[in-house]
Amino acid sequence: MTQENYIVALDTACGLLHNDLAEFTTQFQSSNSVHSFYEKSDNVEWTTGFCTGEYWLAWEHTHDDAFKKAALCQVDSFLQRIENKIDVDHHDMGFLYVPSCVAAYKLTGSGTAKKAALLAADQLCSRFQEKGQFLQAWGALGAKENYRLIIDCLLNVPLLYWASEVTGNPRYREIALAHTATSMANLVRPDHSTYHTYFFDPETGTPVRGSTQQGYRDGSAWARGQAWGVYGMALAYFYTRDTKCIELFREVTDYFIARLPEDGIPYWDLTFIDGDEPRDSSAAAIAACGMLAMAPHLEEKEAAHYRAVAEQLAAALVEHCAVRDPAVSNGLLLHGVYAKNSPYNPIPADRGVDECNTWGDYFYMELLTRLTTDWKMYW
Ligand code: GLY
Repeated sequence: MTQENYIVALDTACGLLHNDLAEFTTQFQSSNSVHSFYEKSDNVEWTTGFCTGEYWLAWEHTHDDAFKKAALCQVDSFLQRIENKIDVDHHDMGFLYVPSCVAAYKLTGSGTAKKAALLAADQLCSRFQEKGQFLQAWGALGAKENYRLIIDCLLNVPLLYWASEVTGNPRYREIALAHTATSMANLVRPDHSTYHTYFFDPETGTPVRGSTQQGYRDGSAWARGQAWGVYGMALAYFYTRDTKCIELFREVTDYFIARLPEDGIPYWDLTFIDGDEPRDSSAAAIAACGMLAMAPHLEEKEAAHYRAVAEQLAAALVEHCAVRDPAVSNGLLLHGVYAKNSPYNPIPADRGVDECNTWGDYFYMELLTRLTTDWKMYW
């Protein structure tokens, strides 16, 4: 595909978003579509920041102030949400507040956005566990059955690096560094696949065991988890310059690439490399963004390799998953999976299987933006 093709794909995405601005400004898209259509949602769950992030990306691409207006309206909602502590007792403050409010602050200098994002950073820090040195993902703080981190959180910690930068308070960064070090020490297996989650002993902080929440089984590599690992390692390197992050990036990325089926869209769990299990398009978009984020920090030959894979993934997404017709879907990227039940993991109910999801849409736009501009990242 050429640059022109990616620009056309981004134009299409922005056009689709523009069609639905009236519907999704004071309310948000639900986390996943149902029969390919998002319903309206209040500002709850971990995913609403992606809607705002898409508007910022669309504004950067089109310069159409309708997107900026909608995004700033949503920033107000994010301030209310954190001030009133609505559905924020979890670690996903980065997913919520980086593409919405940190982006708003970086792009417009919005004081509301800065205030909201700093409150969210404080909320995230409140989940730091000294015993084990990690940010507890979910549940009551300190509860044994929830005393764990998850790989996704590597995308939450950039909120803390940003908070240290804008406040001058080193504590946010120290927590981010400690959490990242604990994640790196425990989540990557010897074969370079990754655990989704890792438990610690609440009394001693000792690592106990890896497990999955959304993957096929504890010992498998949930595709999106592996993709969070790819992007997470690139971000970890960006903020720490620790060369160990580059090594881990190579390991988890090469594992991800080796498990891609021929058409380039990963199955929802990397256990599967063929057959008719559902795909998770969002994992491809996330991993490709991670490869492009890491490339500038690698030697040119290696950078060219990961850029080429990212372009193959982008081409596959445009060809097989991109929405072109608003009669088909009000999302941007088809064929994602939010959560899928398996014989080995009965915890999650099937949700958003073979559907659009808001993070898939967001990272698809970020990927196209990265491929067509010298993008200054929100993360
Ligand atoms: N961070 C939750 C997920 O990827 O489903």
